[in-house]
Amino acid sequence: MSSLEIVFSTTFFNLLILYFINISSSETDVCDAFQKDCHTDGREKETASHMYSSAGDEKWQDIIELINKANSSYEECTSESCSCYLSVMKDDLLPWQKDGITREDILESKNKGTYYQIINHKLYRETECMFPFRCSGVEHFILQIIDKLPDMEFILNTRDWPQANKYNKPLPIFSFSKTPQYWDIMYPAWTFWEGGPAISLYPTGLGRWDLQRTIINKTIEKWPWSKKKDKAFFRGSRTSSERDELVLLSREHPDLIDAQYTKNQAWKSDKDTLGAPPAKEVSLEDHCAYKYLFNFRGVAASFRLKHLFLCRALVFHVGDEWVEFFYHRLKPWVHYIPVATDLSNVMELLSFSVERNDYAKAIAQRGFDFIWNHLKMDDILCYWENLLLNYAKLLKYKPERNNNFKLIKPKHK
Ligand SMILES: *[C@@H]1O[C@H](CO)[C@@H](O)[C@H](O)[C@H]1NC(C)=O
Ligand SMILES: *[C@@H]1O[C@H](CO)[C@@H](O)[C@H](O)[C@H]1NC(C)=O
Repeated sequence: MSSLEIVFSTTFFNLLILYFINISSSETDVCDAFQKDCHTDGREKETASHMYSSAGDEKWQDIIELINKANSSYEECTSESCSCYLSVMKDDLLPWQKDGITREDILESKNKGTYYQIINHKLYRETECMFPFRCSGVEHFILQIIDKLPDMEFILNTRDWPQANKYNKPLPIFSFSKTPQYWDIMYPAWTFWEGGPAISLYPTGLGRWDLQRTIINKTIEKWPWSKKKDKAFFRGSRTSSERDELVLLSREHPDLIDAQYTKNQAWKSDKDTLGAPPAKEVSLEDHCAYKYLFNFRGVAASFRLKHLFLCRALVFHVGDEWVEFFYHRLKPWVHYIPVATDLSNVMELLSFSVERNDYAKAIAQRGFDFIWNHLKMDDILCYWENLLLNYAKLLKYKPERNNNFKLIKPKHK
């Protein structure tokens, strides 16, 4: 499985799992007795009183209602550190809450990932790691908090694919992404630091998240909403055929959609890019020139999702199965536009966004705000700390140092 496969891959969630709180439109139907011209000019008042009302409302009533309902039931996470994400950690650890994690559980899991130990505030690992940069992308975080961590051992899966299928008994394996079909315990992906997919534009990998945040945030000066192209955009390789439909639609509607496949390591002929020559790769910050950015799953969840939000563009998130630890806090219609996996509703959603740019821009801004405020490097570190502290509490035995393992020291950068 190539690391390239991941980069332009994707993920996620809740299509129409919305909380239908029955309110909203009734608000504007009520005549406010304190407003003088309530009866003489009711219709105009009604229009003026609603932030976004205009002639297009009737045509787009269904979508606007979904947005308003999602917005009114949304509760912002106000915490400073990573406690926004504690519920996902709790869910992931739930299978061991009662009986704990035994040495046998670890031994049964050990072929599914890399074996780590923390003994007396030192980090040890079996000498082999399948993807060394992925291991060190994780070790970077653990070494920063090692003084706070008790003795423990764990199995870290650095493959893209989760390892503990629910057809079998729960195995405590750490993975960066999964679907509801897996027991795996999610950890913040190595790509927050290093080991991200290497493509020609990012020859040493996608690059540090803290630096990317700053770089992509800056694009707002060059590409404020008003200067962004009124177009949907996607560039990535064909890691999943779920992406085909958008590429085909783009050929039919080039004025509205620019979606093309790039080469990946497996590319042999134009057949691998759906019968067209491969397109050039586009850097994440150059994605910010467009108003509507598509996110698809690839092999597993796509690392790029978080970057797309930083553009302050409207994210069209296709599918809802593949998640990372922070996804459950991103809500459809509040932070992004949920798109059905078969893309059957995509043209309608795009027309809506073009015609009702006021809504599109507001959702884009809220998506940005969430990622900017709640997915900082400190939140990643904090998640690691809570995860390992809570995990260690479940261990039913005291791990003994394996003398074949090597001591992992901080790298000098
Ligand atoms: C969302 O709801 C809040 C109040 O809960 C309101 O202040 C805000 O204007 C709403 N945003 C949109 C886009 O409707
Ligand atoms: C993010 O971008 C805005 C607008 O250019 C700028 O004012 C702000 O300082 C940036 N923040 C960081 C941390 O780079």
